[in-house]
Amino acid sequence: MDNLLCSVLLLAVTTLILIDADCSTYPAVKNSYLNKDDQCDDTSITCNKGYNMKQMVKCEGGEWQYQEPFCEPQDCEYKYTNGTYLSFHSKYKSISNQQECTEVCNNDATCGGAEFHTGLCFFHPPPVIAVFIDTDLNECITKCSELNECLMLNYYPDDDESKCRLFNVTLNDLYEGEIRFDSRHILVEKIC
Ligand SMILES: *[C@@H]1O[C@H](CO)[C@@H](O)[C@H](O)[C@H]1NC(C)=O
Ligand SMILES: *[C@@H]1O[C@H](CO)[C@@H](O)[C@H](O)[C@H]1NC(C)=O
Repeated sequence: MDNLLCSVLLLAVTTLILIDADCSTYPAVKNSYLNKDDQCDDTSITCNKGYNMKQMVKCEGGEWQYQEPFCEPQDCEYKYTNGTYLSFHSKYKSISNQQECTEVCNNDATCGGAEFHTGLCFFHPPPVIAVFIDTDLNECITKCSELNECLMLNYYPDDDESKCRLFNVTLNDLYEGEIRFDSRHILVEKIC
């Protein structure tokens, strides 16, 4: 087929986005992927898991103008299990502050997130995927909502340095020994 006609069909919507002749670049729809074959036949865009496609239209001069589609996060529900947290074996090392602690973790493939605590840096393994310090519970939930891989979070309110830990597993994926109880902790599962 004529490569210049190589186009992207968006769901049932009539908008065609022309992409370059050899299909080498992808239409820039954030949080999506392109399903294409060599001929660019039946090419479509699918939003990543956890996102829904939305396309805005507006009426201009009596005609519908289609806007670029986008993938927006699905509305998820957050299920609280209060007084529960996850326990994991973390390596630690003497380090001077949270920033350095985070940097060392970012350069270590085995580290999911790091927490600085009285002169020591604790490197948490997966299923930890990120740690945020000094957020409130709502901010922690927002962080999880923004990360596709985040399925659960553990919030530990602490006047000095609250801890927000994000995980890529749910409670069902864990075995009992990993689940601990402490009234101060809040565990929240993301259900989309
Ligand atoms: C769990 O903790 C949250 C946040 O502190 C609170 O809003 C909620 O009422 C608690 N739920 C139960 C069942 O105690
Ligand atoms: C969680 O993330 C880690 C590190 O990115 C990865 O190795 C692991 O396979 C993930 N686990 C699940 C259940 O997705």
